[in-house]
Amino acid sequence: MLMVCLGNICRSPMAEGLMRHIAQQRNLNLQVDSSGTSNYHIGESPDKRAIRCMKEYDIDISGLRGSQFTSSAFDLFDYILVMDQSNLRNVISLATSEEHKKKVRLILDYGSSELREVPDPWYGDMIDFHRTYEILNDAIIGFLTETGNV
Ligand code: 4NP
Repeated sequence: MLMVCLGNICRSPMAEGLMRHIAQQRNLNLQVDSSGTSNYHIGESPDKRAIRCMKEYDIDISGLRGSQFTSSAFDLFDYILVMDQSNLRNVISLATSEEHKKKVRLILDYGSSELREVPDPWYGDMIDFHRTYEILNDAIIGFLTETGNV
């Protein structure tokens, strides 16, 4: 599956690291990657606050590098999980078939959060990164349960 946000330095690399971590713990054979709809941070490490936050949960995302979403993802992944409505619009606009569009879901369609969008911690503080972690953790567990992977 592919995790998608705007910059690919905060929310989606956190989601990628978390999904990898949970898959490993549960012996699930999943291919996980992430990208951003923008070209702002191609080749860059995740935001240092995101790295620090994830490290507190023993998840190392320091080796990830920013990349931009391209339409090849529609063929490469079964699920494209986006963080917010703007990501959804941008990704859907690149889809050329109904089959491709069906692969794209808001990540908060899964789990128990009442939010529809994962708030962007880029504008916030460490506490916001931890909140993002909690929201993503709930959504990912929900995703794995609802898609029959656990
Ligand atoms: P992300 O956060 O989409 O969760 O990676 C952002 C990171 C950088 C920018 C915006 C959002 N930016 O405008 O540079």
